[in-house]
Amino acid sequence: MKDGIAPHGGTLINRLTSPEQRQTFLDKADTLPQITLDERAFSDLVMIAIGGFSPLTGFMGQADYATVVTDMRLANGLPWSIPITLSVDEAVAAELTEGQLVRLDDPTGRFVGVLELTEKYTYDKQHQAIHVYRTDEEKHPGVKVVYEQGPINLAGPVWLLQRDPHPLFPNYQVDPADSRAMFRQRGWKTVVGFQTRNPIHRAHEYIQKCALETVDGLFLHPLVGATKKDDIPADVRMRCYEIMLEHYFPQDRVILAINPSAMRYAGPREAIFHALIRKNYGCTHFIVGRDHAGVGDYYGTYDAQHIFGEFEPEELGIIPMKFEHAFYCTRTGTMATTKTSPSTPEERIHLSGTKVREMLRRGELPPAQFSRPEVAAELVKAMRVPQEV
Ligand code: ADX
Repeated sequence: MKDGIAPHGGTLINRLTSPEQRQTFLDKADTLPQITLDERAFSDLVMIAIGGFSPLTGFMGQADYATVVTDMRLANGLPWSIPITLSVDEAVAAELTEGQLVRLDDPTGRFVGVLELTEKYTYDKQHQAIHVYRTDEEKHPGVKVVYEQGPINLAGPVWLLQRDPHPLFPNYQVDPADSRAMFRQRGWKTVVGFQTRNPIHRAHEYIQKCALETVDGLFLHPLVGATKKDDIPADVRMRCYEIMLEHYFPQDRVILAINPSAMRYAGPREAIFHALIRKNYGCTHFIVGRDHAGVGDYYGTYDAQHIFGEFEPEELGIIPMKFEHAFYCTRTGTMATTKTSPSTPEERIHLSGTKVREMLRRGELPPAQFSRPEVAAELVKAMRVPQEV
């Protein structure tokens, strides 16, 4: 195939308006009913428009929503594991009529898109939580978002008026059509995608490089959309990646780009979702390590790997590269997993995200076995809580 791997569903969706269509929408701006998107819904609009969520062309209707929640499939049978919905309050929904165009504003109140409202429907939040997140506990950060959102879903195709540069990372804004072109231009036939929401540490680097040993290119794709409050901010994480690329990676084998979407913390379900997104960006392979997209102890360490077995490889169309929990092994003096090292638990150095965050807040450098020193220094600089005098 000329354009590398096929997008999910076969066609790379583009829901950006043409200049004429944009003008038509702008002319109608003051007459259309309006809703304001929150950060997640805005990033979903963008992902739909740029094809990151292909084959979706809009927010899900009831038929797709129902089968996605219970069966991890769109109504036409195509695998899809996370509902993409636009949820509003009853009062907002009551003002809207099916068949109408609805003006979509971003969280700052800018007119950014249009929804052709085809359906309004109620849904069962607890049912969604149990199926998608495997828990209905409100303290799960993904479930909390579902419980806090409005009770009515608005569905229908969307348009994005224009693709603005990312305010923080314009140089790393690479949309699926662009990444596909970049892979082609570099002659990469096989590319492994890497999802992350945390600062890069040596276990990340290890599994990225193990994967890169067997494919042509590495697509580092940190998520920069909405995350929970105590995750490390995206600008700090991106600086860590820049440092790593400068010192520890061959430049011609790696592309760093942002993934604009929001974290769901849905563990196994989100691993499938993350893989399908990277397929749309043109990746042939996708890294799934320990507790991918997990939070707390809601999911088993390898549940996000096992879930790939619930699909035929061809229907996913992207190959998961599964890695065991990696650590620094003091016996062999290298990064390893239990597949490659005979170490005892005492000989393994691994720090939890929580532990590292605590160290950083105290201004302590994580050890060199956990984090490259240049990255550790950057993290301490960024995260240190100013001491009261
Ligand atoms: S995630 O929420 O985006 O999955 P994180 O940024 O920590 O969180 O992880 C990115 C990827 O690296 C995921 O595939 C995760 O499973 C993997 N990973 C993180 N730490 C380890 C580790 N110590 N060993 C193996 N895989 C890991």
